[in-house]
Amino acid sequence: MAVDLRNHVYENALQQLDSGVLLFDSSGTLCFTNQELLRLLEISEETLQGYSLKQLMRHPALKREFRSMVVQVTKAVLRHKLTRYELMDVSNRHWLITITNSVRMDGYCMLTIKDVSVYKDVEQTTYQQDKLVMLGQISAAIAHEIRNPLTAIRGFIQLLKPYLMAIGKEEYTRIILTEIDRANDIIYEFLNSSKPTKPEKSCMGIHSLLREVIMLIESEALMRGCQIRVLEESITDWQVAIDVKQMKQVMLNLMKNSMDAICESGKQVPGLIELAVKSTGEQLKIMIRDNGKGMSKLAQKKLFEPFYTTKPSGTGLGLSVSERIIKNHGGSIQVDSQVGVGTEFTLTLPVAQCAI
Ligand SMILES: Nc1ncnc2c1ncn2[C@@H]1O[C@H](COP(=O)(O)OP(=O)(O)OP(=O)(O)O)[C@@H](O)[C@H]1O
Ligand SMILES: [Mg+2]
Repeated sequence: MAVDLRNHVYENALQQLDSGVLLFDSSGTLCFTNQELLRLLEISEETLQGYSLKQLMRHPALKREFRSMVVQVTKAVLRHKLTRYELMDVSNRHWLITITNSVRMDGYCMLTIKDVSVYKDVEQTTYQQDKLVMLGQISAAIAHEIRNPLTAIRGFIQLLKPYLMAIGKEEYTRIILTEIDRANDIIYEFLNSSKPTKPEKSCMGIHSLLREVIMLIESEALMRGCQIRVLEESITDWQVAIDVKQMKQVMLNLMKNSMDAICESGKQVPGLIELAVKSTGEQLKIMIRDNGKGMSKLAQKKLFEPFYTTKPSGTGLGLSVSERIIKNHGGSIQVDSQVGVGTEFTLTLPVAQCAI
């Protein structure tokens, strides 16, 4: 009687766990599942009991994504003898699975399963922040080391100017000074772009912003065989409170990526970048759509990581910096892409409280 009561308490405790639990007996048959498991797998009670792990792979009540999870877990348990396994499903959710079959369990084997997507996101964000901080420190150090000799060179060239003038080579001075200034500008831009500062917001009509961005990139797009189109329904000029320089940087980053994706797609159809704007009351959405090469689900996951690039001369900073700028504006950035079809980025920004 006392043992029965204790078993009841143990079972209740397992039912209360915030992980899904599967208990297999010594013949490999599933003999216990808790409520959390049924909730996670979105199935009704008791349907799984009596099945072995291998039979679960084809269980009709299980969704396809979960059946493929069972396949992966079976491999991990039987082939690789793992006791802890992490996997990502087709909806990009992260799962942590633990396998316990110690000798003290009389041949029983317990699997626990937990959706750890939230923890993964936190881990990922921290990792990205760390990389950006490190990048900021490295770039500041490099910029400092390069700027000092440039300042010295600039000074000496100015001292040499009269001598160059005397031999009719004044033009050299101008070229050297221009090039030094350009190098300084590049360092300044790099420092700024790898460490986006707090936005200095001003109100601007979204349409004016798009017009200015298109003006900046139009000739490059033309040269690379890409047409830029603003969709008709986007004509309304909603006001946004933005740091104009930073937002232009984001739009240019995205549109340059689109052009690269179009050029790399090898498609015979003309390249097209479409811009659209939608307002949903409190929020404003800017869509940048291309018919470039598109991206796999895995690439879409890694996209915003600093230094993630698939281009031989890319830094992999464009999107991580863009994401940071948009977040600093109180907004967010989403991607939707299909390999061989194209990509759409959506920037969501709060609608401005501007006095017009
Ligand atoms: N529109 C797009 N279509 C397909 N792939 C894209 C698109 N935008 C970004 N990517 C992928 O995301 C990666 C990261 O982009 P990101 O802008 O951060 O860096 P990058 O373009 O590689 O380098 P940089 O911006 O420094 O030139 C790219 O290398 C590319 O593989
Ligand atoms: Mg880029």
